[in-house]
Amino acid sequence: MNNSIKVLNEGNEHWFEVDDKELILDAAIRQQVPIPYTCRNGTCRTCLYQVVEGTLVQEDADICMISEQELEAGRRLLCMSTLQGDAVIEKVVRKRRRTEGEVTNLGASAI
Ligand code: FES
Repeated sequence: MNNSIKVLNEGNEHWFEVDDKELILDAAIRQQVPIPYTCRNGTCRTCLYQVVEGTLVQEDADICMISEQELEAGRRLLCMSTLQGDAVIEKVVRKRRRTEGEVTNLGASAI
């Protein structure tokens, strides 16, 4: 049985099917859905997503670069996760660090 997953990527939205026991990233690549990835083995964290609805099973969590706290908060690495039922997920966006100039400019405008 196939399940469907809806992916929210910084303003874009995609739906695709995932076969039973198929890794979600493999299904996305097979259907040419634009999901960012690099290593495909759970170490680079490029494919880190937040589960909004549904259940994603993180396979081999002990060898992946994901913490217990992240798992409890509903985060999953798509290259190492399978899908149980339909789900909605959203890309986890890393916060950009401010440059020294930005900090200075913020300080100047506050005066
Ligand atoms: S592609 Fe590197 S952790 Fe998923």
